[in-house]
Amino acid sequence: MSIPKSHYFEARPAVASRPRTVKLHMGDIQLELQADRGVFGSRGIDPGTLVLLKEAPPPPVTGDLLDPGSGYGPIALVLARRAPQAKVWAVDVNEVGKAPLHELLMAWLPRLKPGGAAYLVVQRNLGSDSLAGWMRKEQGWNVTRLKSKKGYRVLEVRPAP
Ligand SMILES: C[S@@+](CC[C@H](N)C(=O)[O-])C[C@H]1O[C@@H](n2cnc3c(N)ncnc32)[C@H](O)[C@@H]1O
Repeated sequence: MSIPKSHYFEARPAVASRPRTVKLHMGDIQLELQADRGVFGSRGIDPGTLVLLKEAPPPPVTGDLLDPGSGYGPIALVLARRAPQAKVWAVDVNEVGKAPLHELLMAWLPRLKPGGAAYLVVQRNLGSDSLAGWMRKEQGWNVTRLKSKKGYRVLEVRPAP
């Protein structure tokens, strides 16, 4: 019998559910998260996610914080712990790839408040620099490379003034 391969970015994962607990330890934050097979990072917190959590500046203490493409929520939950007075939003549709990523960014980045910023982590080998170029040249957003670490780039994106 052959078992079809399945990827987290499938819109409807074909694999049977197998819930998993994923531990997230970040300094004083210790969380046990519930994930499932077929969900991004379900074998453990993704290394790029950890780079972002370590390198992005602390969130504002109040206001609305959005984690678009949240998966099972490691970023949203760390934001909620770091900024307990803020309202944290986490959204996910189980679908990725270049076109859905562009759609996601075009849907959410224009909603940044004046002075607000988005922090993205993108694997260098998966086109971080061309994504940054697309955001700058085609969308007109201000993009700054904050860090390059372990094969990932951490980008800060702000609306053009
Ligand atoms: C690389 S994973 C990151 C998951 C999570 N943030 C983490 O660090 O483990 C990207 C996520 O974006 C989601 N996604 C893709 N396109 C989306 C869209 N248009 N709206 C919301 N979520 C989307 C995918 O389903 C996937 O869970």
